[in-house]
Amino acid sequence: AIPVILDVDTGVDDAMAILFALAHPGINVLGISCVAGNASLERVVDNTLRILDVADAPPIPVAAGARRPLLEPARSAAHVHGKSGLGTLKLPPTDRQAEAISSIDLMHRLIQASPHPVTLVGLAPQTNLALLLRQYPDSVNNIQRIVFMGGSTTVGNATAVAEFNVWHDPEAAAIVLDSGVPTFMYGLDVFNQVAIPEQVANALVQSDSNVAHVIGRLLSNRIALGAGRNAEYTGLIGDAGALCALVDPDALQTAMLPLRVQLSGYGRGQTLVDKRTHPGEDIMHGLAGEWEAAEVALDVDVDRYVRLFLDTLGLGSAL
Ligand code: BDR
Ligand code: CA
Repeated sequence: AIPVILDVDTGVDDAMAILFALAHPGINVLGISCVAGNASLERVVDNTLRILDVADAPPIPVAAGARRPLLEPARSAAHVHGKSGLGTLKLPPTDRQAEAISSIDLMHRLIQASPHPVTLVGLAPQTNLALLLRQYPDSVNNIQRIVFMGGSTTVGNATAVAEFNVWHDPEAAAIVLDSGVPTFMYGLDVFNQVAIPEQVANALVQSDSNVAHVIGRLLSNRIALGAGRNAEYTGLIGDAGALCALVDPDALQTAMLPLRVQLSGYGRGQTLVDKRTHPGEDIMHGLAGEWEAAEVALDVDVDRYVRLFLDTLGLGSAL
């Protein structure tokens, strides 16, 4: 199984990603690092611990990291994830507790202790990941790669051009891209496609199984947002797709592309991608160093990921 550390801002779809990761035999979750994003840091930690109860998970270390982006104050995403971060879903309180150390220290310890290189999976603003790479540069020696949900080569969501995770902490995303660790971008190009049909979500809500019910409720939250809004608010599995990318990369069309993060102006937080097949004038003018190469997911076999998601969670019969 692939040893992974999840960095989350749980978060309706982060919750589904955690449940998927714990259920998939090809993924070994070493620990979970929390960051402010969809909700405040305290909420994110609490939501994450409660979701571990839903999964009936063994003790997995969870720790709190940054409560705000590197430069700016935290900004709420309550309009998408509700005030609690889990929409209208209310989970019972948990006896689980977060580690007493910061998630930056937790990640470093887990990376140092792992016999195999660790894959970091960023499902949130990349503040914690940037702090890890800056505070413990030796970490890179035992990181396989960083797979992150974030960015877009086309449309944005936080703004017309910027995706939420990168927009929330653009400097952090730039530090991660510049770290020398191989990066894989699971951005809105694919994130916005993988949706569970509404009737399947409704069937899950009615289910006797707690996991099925919780997943159904999380999907329904997203679908409810769609009423009167744009079509991208469907039953997206969201962040869980970045974990599908770990275990079934062949369902994606990807390309190695020059990538950079826009840090100023209206485009702040936008990921710029150079799709030209021949080096442009800027590169000839010596600006090539301002780009980092990243593997970027451009298209996805939607049915395959819907099936993978439901089957892994034992919900395939709902399709
Ligand atoms: C990303 O932002 C959050 O709303 C989601 O959890 C996802 O990680 C999508 O832009
Ligand atoms: Ca997230």
